[in-house]
Amino acid sequence: MEIGSICGRHFLKLKHLHYGYWTDGLEVDAWNLHLAQDEYVKFIISHIPDGVKTILDVGCGTGEIAETLLNMGYEVDCVSPCPFLEKQAGELLGDRTHIFECFYEDMQTTNRYDMIMFCESFQYIDVEQALLKTNEFLKNGGYLFICDVFAKGKKGKGVMGGGHKLDKFNDHITKFPFRLIENIDITEETAPNMDLFGDALKNVIQPVTDVAVRFFKSRYPIATKLLKWKYRKKFEKAQKKYLEGGRSGEDFKRYKSYQLFIYKKDIQEKTQPAH
Ligand SMILES: C[S@@+](CC[C@H](N)C(=O)[O-])C[C@H]1O[C@@H](n2cnc3c(N)ncnc32)[C@H](O)[C@@H]1O
Repeated sequence: MEIGSICGRHFLKLKHLHYGYWTDGLEVDAWNLHLAQDEYVKFIISHIPDGVKTILDVGCGTGEIAETLLNMGYEVDCVSPCPFLEKQAGELLGDRTHIFECFYEDMQTTNRYDMIMFCESFQYIDVEQALLKTNEFLKNGGYLFICDVFAKGKKGKGVMGGGHKLDKFNDHITKFPFRLIENIDITEETAPNMDLFGDALKNVIQPVTDVAVRFFKSRYPIATKLLKWKYRKKFEKAQKKYLEGGRSGEDFKRYKSYQLFIYKKDIQEKTQPAH
């Protein structure tokens, strides 16, 4: 993620770490990815429920979404377990926010929020732990807001990792007092990112890897042979995972599903029986 952030920011002017949301008319091209990411933020903001004032941004990445929310008048706290990203977000947000520098699973606070938001960070957190913590930190009547990739759990699951299994997530959430109030499938709008990624692997990463291997082979033939033998399983795995295809928008639509879920925490107050 750190490497992605450094390269993305330098070469493609990317401020965010999430997928782009490709609207009609936006040409699917790496140079437009920053515009598609901005569309993703607009999509997120347009779905924040009315009445929300305080937000916890879990996995805030570079802090750019939090900054937009702060500028709109929301009070925002952030969670960031990655020191590199935490530093970037800290520099951007200054003292307008509190950043909990820890994994969400380890977060401790007495604060209670109107909304807890996971923008492409839910997939990295154990589902049970994420829901337990969210139940603890949300006010009653508050919102759990998840926008992320889920795995459909199809047979022959493809080479793409990432995303909790949708059916398991749906099972887990029934144990908590969260009521689904909105669900939008944005797989179609996010799948083009995988076409761009697949294209970069095929036309940049693969040829660059080939050149590097050729170079080392000619300079250090014995050491290259030894390394290739010692790490053959890892090389084979990486080759299969990243360089043999299977990462297109169509593959993404087959095996993954990108969903916005908004749940409302509803704990029914016990009413006293009438006498
Ligand atoms: C793909 S980035 C998304 C960043 C940002 N939300 C955005 O939309 O640009 C995933 C984020 O999740 C964070 N993350 C990963 N594991 C986490 C965990 N266990 N608890 C909290 N955040 C986590 C990473 O540090 C990173 O900021």
